[in-house]
Amino acid sequence: MKRIEVDVDLLREFERGLDPRHPERSRVPARVLGYGEISTVFAIEVEGMCGLAFKRLPIFHTEEEMGKYRATYEEYNRLLEEEIGLSLPPHGYAAFLTDTGRPIFYIVQQELPALSVGNRAIHLLPRQDILLLVRRVLQELCKVWEFNRRQGYWQVGIDGQISNWAIAGFDPEHPHLDEGTRLDYMDTSTPLFRVQGMEQLNPELFLRSAPPFLAWALRLLFLEDVVNRYYDFHRVAVDLVANFYKEQRPDLVPDLVAVVNEVFSQEAPHLGVPPIWEKEVRAYYREDAQIWSLYLSARKVDRFLRTRILRREYPYILPEKIQR
Ligand SMILES: Nc1ncnc2c1ncn2[C@@H]1O[C@H](COP(=O)(O)OP(=O)(O)OP(=O)(O)O)[C@@H](O)[C@H]1O
Ligand SMILES: [Mg+2]
Repeated sequence: MKRIEVDVDLLREFERGLDPRHPERSRVPARVLGYGEISTVFAIEVEGMCGLAFKRLPIFHTEEEMGKYRATYEEYNRLLEEEIGLSLPPHGYAAFLTDTGRPIFYIVQQELPALSVGNRAIHLLPRQDILLLVRRVLQELCKVWEFNRRQGYWQVGIDGQISNWAIAGFDPEHPHLDEGTRLDYMDTSTPLFRVQGMEQLNPELFLRSAPPFLAWALRLLFLEDVVNRYYDFHRVAVDLVANFYKEQRPDLVPDLVAVVNEVFSQEAPHLGVPPIWEKEVRAYYREDAQIWSLYLSARKVDRFLRTRILRREYPYILPEKIQR
C-alpha cells in the first residue's frame, strides 16, 4: 500500500489560521467533508493538499500519548488491510505540536467522492441496491469476525456505520452497485483492537472531547459498553441498520433486518451471531440519538464556558444541529 506523505509545514500553517468555531472561515481555505460524532474531516484547498481528506484529532495531552496513538493507528490499518483484507483508501498521518504546544494528529486519506459515501449514496440508489449495499457491508464485516475467530492473538473491533464505507467507482448519474463492487472503509480513527485480551487504545481518549463535567459520568455509565459494542457483531449490525432511521429511511428497516439475519444465518452460520429484531433496532436508535444530542448540547455549554467565561482556547470543532 502506498503511503501518503504530506507537508507538515502546510498543516502547521493551516492549524495557525484555523478558527474551530467557523472552520470554513480559516485563513488557509478549507472545506468540511464530514462531521462525525467526535471529529471533523476537511479538504484543504491549497496546492500540495488537493485530493486529500484530513481528519483532525486535537485530543492528546502529551506527545508521548500521541506517539502511542500513532502506533495503534498504524497497526490497526495494517490489521484491517493485510490480515483481514478490507480495502482502505490510501492513507498516512501527520503529527506535530501547534504554536501553543498542543499535540495535533491528522489522519490523512485520499479524498473519496462525497456522493459515494454510504450515507449519501443511499439517497441515490434504488431500493434493491441499498439492500445489496448493506449486504456487501455485512460481508466485509464478516471478514473481521472471521479473523477474530481464526486466531486467538488479536481481536479487532470495527464501526460498521453506513457513513464509514464508500462505494468504489460510484457514478451518481447512474447510481448502481453489484455483488463485485468494492467498498472502501474510512473510519480508522478509533483503532480498537486487543492483543491477548489487552485493549491497545487508551479508552480515556474517547472522553477527551467530552465536557469535564460529563466525563466522569460517561466513564462510569457508558465507556466500557461503548468500547465492547465494536467487538460484538450483533450490536454492530443493529447500529448499522439503526442508521437508516437517522437517514430518514425508516421504511427500509424491516427489509434490512431481514438482510442482516439472512447473512448471519446463511453466509456466516459458523460465526453463531444471534439474529437482530426490528424492535431492538428502534429502541437502540432512540437511546443512541438521545445520548448523542445530549452530548453535543453539553459540548456547546462547555465551549461557552471555556471561551466566553474562562476566555480559554476551545480546540474542538462542533457541528451545527444534526438532523436525526
Ligand atoms: N477519505 C475521505 N474522503 C471523503 N470524505 C471522507 C473521508 N473520510 C471521511 N470522510 C467524511 O467524513 C465523515 C466522517 O468521517 P469518519 O467516519 O472517518 O469519522 P467519524 O465518523 O467522525 O468518526 P468518529 O465518530 O469516530 O470521530 C465520513 O462519513 C465522510 O462523509
Ligand atoms: Mg464515521
